[in-house]
Amino acid sequence: MNNAHVPVMLSEATEALQIHPNEWYIDATFGGGGHTGEILRQGGNVLAFDWDRPAIEAGNKKFADHINQGKLVLIRESFAKLHDETTKMQTEQKVGRIQGILFDFGTSTDQLLSSERGFSFTGDGELDMRMDDRLGVQAKDILAVVPEKQLSELFLETGGEPQARKIAKAIKSSPVPITTTGQLAELVKKVKKGRTGKLHPATKVFQALRIAVNSELEQISLALPQALDLLQPGGSIVTIAFHEGEDRIAKRYFREWAKTGLGEESGPFTPADGEVQKNPRARSAKLRVFRKTNE
Ligand SMILES: C[S@@+](CC[C@H](N)C(=O)[O-])C[C@H]1O[C@@H](n2cnc3c(N)ncnc32)[C@H](O)[C@@H]1O
Repeated sequence: MNNAHVPVMLSEATEALQIHPNEWYIDATFGGGGHTGEILRQGGNVLAFDWDRPAIEAGNKKFADHINQGKLVLIRESFAKLHDETTKMQTEQKVGRIQGILFDFGTSTDQLLSSERGFSFTGDGELDMRMDDRLGVQAKDILAVVPEKQLSELFLETGGEPQARKIAKAIKSSPVPITTTGQLAELVKKVKKGRTGKLHPATKVFQALRIAVNSELEQISLALPQALDLLQPGGSIVTIAFHEGEDRIAKRYFREWAKTGLGEESGPFTPADGEVQKNPRARSAKLRVFRKTNE
């Protein structure tokens, strides 16, 4: 059985990046290395970031040859530190000028399938959800500490969960603390009884918690202006988002930059039907491109 992460919109993303042999590209969200692997295959060099320790450890093994040849540099760090880490590598002459930058937001299949990491409602594990185990707050801490009203706002505003208020109330009035993925999935299922759809009833609650634990929207807001700054004119920033909030940040920045004459934005582009059939995770993907034309 192959559970490896399947890269989403791979050909659309690499086409938008316009890979030229021996030029340098940043993959800000390395994950299982699907997009990185394709950029390398097309002859590009990659500086890749991921703050997830297992992702970087697996990448070091999988891409050992490219790393030894100096064609791939892997960094375990948040993309919110894109500028400092990249300029450090450039000063050390390990990385050249940056011709394109890719962000493929969210979680990888590897993260979702490790039940002990607490991202998924299938299986049972501690409600952790930290992509970077150096982060201080876990999902179960949020459930314990955040008051009912704010919890409800998080589920509604970040998760888009219509039953947010009832779910927050049930969590806060539970006789035992909710500390595992199984407990939370069961609780949400109970509150939402009778409502079935394509998604698991707890999908939106889990997504909202994960976004909060990892401050994902703040990380994106910090990273995109740094990406613009690092990018050579003629190069593109490509974002792939699976959540409205992630996509909105990219859309706002790209529109603002286009208006001020820094370049051109395009998108959103969505995956072809064939891709969604093969990989259901792709169904909510939206790809946007900003091509920088001026400094
Ligand atoms: C959707 S996966 C990327 C998959 C990858 N493109 C592939 O094809 O294998 C997203 C990855 O981004 C990482 N990530 C999310 N937020 C991050 C951040 N702020 N800094 C660094 N990595 C981040 C996650 O740990 C995860 O491995």
